[in-house]
Amino acid sequence: MPAQLNVSDIISNNILLLISTHVRRALSCRTLRLAGLGATNAPGLAKMRAERGPQVVGPRPSMGGTTVASAIQPHNERAAATWGAGGADYDGISRTIADSIDHCVLRLGLGPGDRVLDLATGTGWTARVAAARGAKVVGVDIGADLIEAAKDQARQAGLEIEFEVGDAEQLRFEDGSFDVVVSTCGVMFASNPKAVAAELARVCKPGGRVGLTTWPPDGTLAQMFQVMRPYMPPPPSPAPPSPFEWGRRERVQELLGSAFDLKFETGTTVLHEPDGEAVWRLFSTGYGPTKTIAGKLDPERREQLHRDFAKFHDQFRGELGVAMPREYLLTIGVRR
Ligand SMILES: C[S@@+](CC[C@H](N)C(=O)[O-])C[C@H]1O[C@@H](n2cnc3c(N)ncnc32)[C@H](O)[C@@H]1O
Repeated sequence: MPAQLNVSDIISNNILLLISTHVRRALSCRTLRLAGLGATNAPGLAKMRAERGPQVVGPRPSMGGTTVASAIQPHNERAAATWGAGGADYDGISRTIADSIDHCVLRLGLGPGDRVLDLATGTGWTARVAAARGAKVVGVDIGADLIEAAKDQARQAGLEIEFEVGDAEQLRFEDGSFDVVVSTCGVMFASNPKAVAAELARVCKPGGRVGLTTWPPDGTLAQMFQVMRPYMPPPPSPAPPSPFEWGRRERVQELLGSAFDLKFETGTTVLHEPDGEAVWRLFSTGYGPTKTIAGKLDPERREQLHRDFAKFHDQFRGELGVAMPREYLLTIGVRR
């Protein structure tokens, strides 16, 4: 079993390359009304709010003399820059998990009349699938460049979807705003799982549904992060919780079970690429964490990471190319 891994290990230790640009964009994006946290007494919500700990968002200086609140909480700004680095190329990563996204959307039974929040939307693949089925969709992500790419993609596809920069740990939406909240391999990567869980419960209306896909701690995706680990700076102390914990049904039950009736299913999505070299090209251009780590290494170390990454994927190579199975957990819940 692989050691506990943490994307936050990657994200929170990166040099702040690009961050000022991203944060400025997030700041200028909108003035947020912070979520009203006192209105709902839905089952389980008070406990979740107590557990998630203090909210640290406060007024922040704006560009133009007015005080605004950032869409992104300060402790997630590095993550925003790291994930955002994938930009439009991130869509190529979503393509490789498209069948798992269809699986989630199918089990949620999305269709016309559903008001859907796609949280940690990336470049909006899941949002587009939901909108193509007739749902009214809002996509939210911390990565400003991902959101710009999501808008372009939706426009090109002729789909009307609202996209905005936002933090899954503190959303601007009213209580009970959505019939469905979906997140495919998404909110598992937020740094504060309890805050995310409380927000999922808060913005989902009673009788509404939640749908999540998440990678487990013993899966091949977690192993891929282990390949990158020696190239990351040392983790902060105390280390934040592993995102792969969201891939264990017991943990999802702990996080969401007090507000949702949950059911689980597993699935496997296969990464098909010609060879390990092609997987490296895909991830080192479109997958923010890989791209960011690679960008900070000296040429020799970068080449070493490149070789290790390609070699790891080449283990799954057959006569026709790489076919790497990636198991995931699908969680479907109904809000009490
Ligand atoms: C692996 S990607 C998944 C993207 C997309 N849902 C998909 O299916 O391809 C993880 C996403 O989580 C987003 N993310 C991480 N922390 C977040 C947070 N606190 N709030 C919103 N999005 C966050 C990242 O920016 C990134 O786009």
